[in-house]
Amino acid sequence: MSAVDPDRWYVAPAEGVAGEIRVPGDKSVSHRSLMLGGIADGVTTVDGFLESEDCLATLKALRALGVAIERPHATSLRIQGVGAHGLRGVDFALDMGNAGTAMRLFMGLLAGQSFDSTLVGDSSLMRRPMERAAAPLRLMGARIETREGRPPVLIRGTTALQSIDFRMPVASAQVKSAVLLAALRAQGVTRVTEPAPTRDHTERMLAGFGVELVREGPTVSLRGGQRLQGTHIDVPADFSSAAFFMVAGCIARAGSLTLRGVGMNPTRTGLLDILRAMGADIEVTGLATRGPEPIADLLIRPSALRGIEVPQALVPLAIDEFPVFFIAAACANGPSLLRGAEELRVKESDRLAVMSQGLTALGVEHHLLPDGMQLAGCGNSYGPAFRGGRIDSHGDHRIAMSFAVASLRAAADIEILDTANVATSFPGFAELARGCGLRLREVPATDASR
Ligand code: S3P
Repeated sequence: MSAVDPDRWYVAPAEGVAGEIRVPGDKSVSHRSLMLGGIADGVTTVDGFLESEDCLATLKALRALGVAIERPHATSLRIQGVGAHGLRGVDFALDMGNAGTAMRLFMGLLAGQSFDSTLVGDSSLMRRPMERAAAPLRLMGARIETREGRPPVLIRGTTALQSIDFRMPVASAQVKSAVLLAALRAQGVTRVTEPAPTRDHTERMLAGFGVELVREGPTVSLRGGQRLQGTHIDVPADFSSAAFFMVAGCIARAGSLTLRGVGMNPTRTGLLDILRAMGADIEVTGLATRGPEPIADLLIRPSALRGIEVPQALVPLAIDEFPVFFIAAACANGPSLLRGAEELRVKESDRLAVMSQGLTALGVEHHLLPDGMQLAGCGNSYGPAFRGGRIDSHGDHRIAMSFAVASLRAAADIEILDTANVATSFPGFAELARGCGLRLREVPATDASR
């Protein structure tokens, strides 16, 4: 019998974080740059590409589909687009790894191709809901099958997609993007209406490739048959990766931290608004536009955080940041409340349940709700908010990184299990965190066979 002990981290309490860093490129923008570059006419060059497992899954799948992609440098790409009709089918399943974005966006990209495709992923992705993207694509004429709503996703070839007027039941940028990608190959004008604003990287990037889209309030429309023209894309530093250091800088007892070139797309920066409303000392400087995405530098100082009731409008705009928000809320003076965030239950893990287990292990007073969480707050601004303990991240990258940040206000060591998937979004997190002052030790997987 042999068992493998997964990678783990030991994080000892630390006083503060300090320095000047640049977190890696944006995951959402990196996926999209590959996909849109792949179906464009001519060459697309990309700088600041996120070299993470999720984005490399998209890169590998596109290569399999016939797109030539060079990487002159780890974070630079040269994509030789195959044009609107140039992708070719493969006789094996395309592996999306841990990446929900890759799977749902590929569903839209492949829905109107003449060949069949099958999409699979790792054990986490194989449990995630895919009907939210399959259903509108079927209304467009796509022939898509899921297994009880989950992967594997089988897409049968068809070139007869029709436009639709689709009101999304869930606020999901992935679903919106899947429909817009299919709309490029559909007859007529497709309209997508979102119940609340979600990240708009697809729309911004399509415009950069020369596609005409019209945005009217919550509705975006796109005429089918438009071709994409190769372009250059600068990928900003990922706001969602910066978020761990933003919270670290706020809950720390000492030091100040500068984050360079962070993506400041307003459909992504909900956590900044939430932290500022909690009293965070975060200065935004040098706001500039690099291509379609705004960027800025952030200067973060130790802050006496107050509890907050998260405004509903900010929930989709901070959807990936709630694990680390809970860490901030645990360190705040006064109670916090998050509602309307049931989407967290279908992310890489059930983030409400897994965060609640971890908070319990560290002695944090909180109450798990079906769609959110109530936290008491630690009642002081700089003392310990967590006791030491062992956390199971359930292989969820954002859970692992959130509890590493908690070490800044912990009374004893925090052990975090199953950390390998941090590489899906933030390769190099451990080194960068250590460089800023976190006392994080990595223990690689061991074969614990006896
Ligand atoms: C993403 C959209 C969000 C987000 C995910 C990335 C994207 O998911 O949680 O990490 O790149 O479009 P939903 O569309 O499911 O909200």
